[in-house]
Amino acid sequence: MAIDASVLVLNGPNLNMLGVREPHIYGSMTLDDLEAACQERAEQLSLVVDFRQSNHEGELVSWIQQARTEHDGIVINAGAYSHTSVAIMDALILSELPIVEVHLSNIYKREAIRHHSHISAVAKGMICGFGPHGYLLALDAMANILERD
Ligand code: DQA
Repeated sequence: MAIDASVLVLNGPNLNMLGVREPHIYGSMTLDDLEAACQERAEQLSLVVDFRQSNHEGELVSWIQQARTEHDGIVINAGAYSHTSVAIMDALILSELPIVEVHLSNIYKREAIRHHSHISAVAKGMICGFGPHGYLLALDAMANILERD
């Protein structure tokens, strides 16, 4: 696979606490470890990854708006905002970019409030339940989408 494309990997609230936060659910990897793993996979896929995290809905919205002209696709784990944020969903729509949604945990095995995601409605597809490996699967899927389209 040889494509030169730029992918925004966005992480929402509380994901800066990976490694400390509920390790029985989210594992022991930190967000820095996760970024390093994503950068390694991106290099193999000839993708450039811009990896970011914010606890603020508006900041995530602004980054998604900017991605419209600065990136070729978005991989997003919006954390709890996945279940609540119409604003992030709207920003993803206006970006007109391919979206791959990812969650570390299997949201369908958890509380009912996590079973619905606004992101899924606008994503090409969603990966959940595979821990950090899900991000690598999401990058594989994004590379495939970008090569195909
Ligand atoms: C999460 C699942 C969400 O329900 C939760 O609010 C998160 C993390 C995940 O990666 O499994 O913050 O998106």
